[in-house]
Amino acid sequence: MKSEKYDQIFKLNKAWLESKKEEDHQYFKNLYEGQNPEFLYIGCSDSRVPANTITGLDVGDLFVHRNIANVVSNNDMNIMSVIQYAVEELKVKHIIVCGHYGCGGVKSAMEQKSYGLLDSWLRNIRDVYRHNYQELSVITDENTRYDRLVEMNVMEQVENVIKTSYVQKSYNKNGFPTVHGWVYDMKSGKLIDLDINFESCLKEVQKVYKID
Ligand code: CO
Repeated sequence: MKSEKYDQIFKLNKAWLESKKEEDHQYFKNLYEGQNPEFLYIGCSDSRVPANTITGLDVGDLFVHRNIANVVSNNDMNIMSVIQYAVEELKVKHIIVCGHYGCGGVKSAMEQKSYGLLDSWLRNIRDVYRHNYQELSVITDENTRYDRLVEMNVMEQVENVIKTSYVQKSYNKNGFPTVHGWVYDMKSGKLIDLDINFESCLKEVQKVYKID
């Protein structure tokens, strides 16, 4: 199928690489030498929430994992490998879980409807809904409830990151990484830090999940 947008991509790439080389002719050579990102970013796959763009960070600054609704699942080899590599090899100082208002994955989990294979993925978010059912059920405005579940999902996934042995071991030994929860507000473009207290969150999690 013909697509003008598709045809543009390689031209856009060429223009981009040339502009980078104009600024610094060693640009790609230096990047090729290796990466040393300070942050692991775990976010949603949503096309409107691109990690480097919304943070204003450069190539090489962020190690990134994205999936539907920024879920950190213990059974997901993909994300567990990303976290292990980021912590043990790249020695990132911060891990960020970034959700976003208007998240389709979170919305779908609030609906009583089947999405096929996606149901088992969305189950992770339905579990967050269930854990917080009391608080959520008293919110009568649907959009407010939806926004709140987005925030709760971020908090839950932050805890899931902290539950990993890689994070606990490294923090114990090195004092990093710390884990943060953010929400991106698509309507305004604003990033919001949920100001999760890492130390107390770690203590709470370790009551049950202490593995180091
Ligand atoms: Co989303």
